[in-house]
Amino acid sequence: MSKPRLDGKVVIVTGGASGIGEAMARLFAASGATVVVADIQDALGAAVAASIGPPCTYTRCDVTDEAQVEATVAAAVAAHGRLDVMLSNAGVLLLTGSVTDMDLSALDRVMAVNFRGAAACVKHAARAMVAAGTRGAIVCTGSVACVQGGYGPASYTASKHALLGLVRAAAGELGRHGVRVNLVSPGGVATPLSMAVAGMGAEEIEASTEAHSVLRGKVLRAADVAEAALFLASDQAGFVSGHNLIVDGATTAV
Ligand code: NAI
Repeated sequence: MSKPRLDGKVVIVTGGASGIGEAMARLFAASGATVVVADIQDALGAAVAASIGPPCTYTRCDVTDEAQVEATVAAAVAAHGRLDVMLSNAGVLLLTGSVTDMDLSALDRVMAVNFRGAAACVKHAARAMVAAGTRGAIVCTGSVACVQGGYGPASYTASKHALLGLVRAAAGELGRHGVRVNLVSPGGVATPLSMAVAGMGAEEIEASTEAHSVLRGKVLRAADVAEAALFLASDQAGFVSGHNLIVDGATTAV
């Protein structure tokens, strides 16, 4: 099978300044797409866009602010004439405590980014695609926490389960417009998010992931997740919608 190409396609990636989102921005740009990196870390995001080079650009977009999401989509359409792919990837994992001690304000913050923020991205990307008659693709970054109760704090698990529901409902509603909506759901990847939560460096996280992995001899990296997202966003996945593509080397399957 030839590698998916996205020549002429316009892509927004939220959380594109770091980790999995950065890997997505790099891979999608290398696959021919015009990529808009959207994040709240301005210096990092601008550096990622600059290192990818034109036509890739950076824009500040806090996904918890619906107006910023709407403006980011509108600006991409105004600048490039269309929006083909929304990679709703921005996410946070806060240590909100055990269920009996749960910090509910922190839970609100997790839901605001991981669930409500993704809902805003799905809403405004879908609006633009439907209005233009674009058979677009929306790929949300889920997690094994979409389908498992024991990965991370309850707040994170709840936000990712909610995201799975949103994606399935959106796929159902948007299918008649030819817009596909899917999730890519990684297991543990060494990124600033997981390193901060685990208090470990990248090598330690990768060693621990490999030791607990079902699929031996390979470590899951952000680039592997980006490859799965590229497939979901491409015409090669033209009949794939409402799907949760788990990228965890079978860990949740056994
Ligand atoms: P990361 O921390 O490297 O990247 C997350 C990016 O999201 C950062 O650049 C951050 O500035 C941005 N962001 C946070 N809040 C935002 C907001 N309100 N608006 C816009 N951007 C915002 O983390 P990583 O690991 O790359 O996470 C990306 C996604 O992958 C998240 O949705 C996360 O839940 C998911 N994930 C990560 C796993 C891991 O082990 N690293 C495993 C499973 C899922």
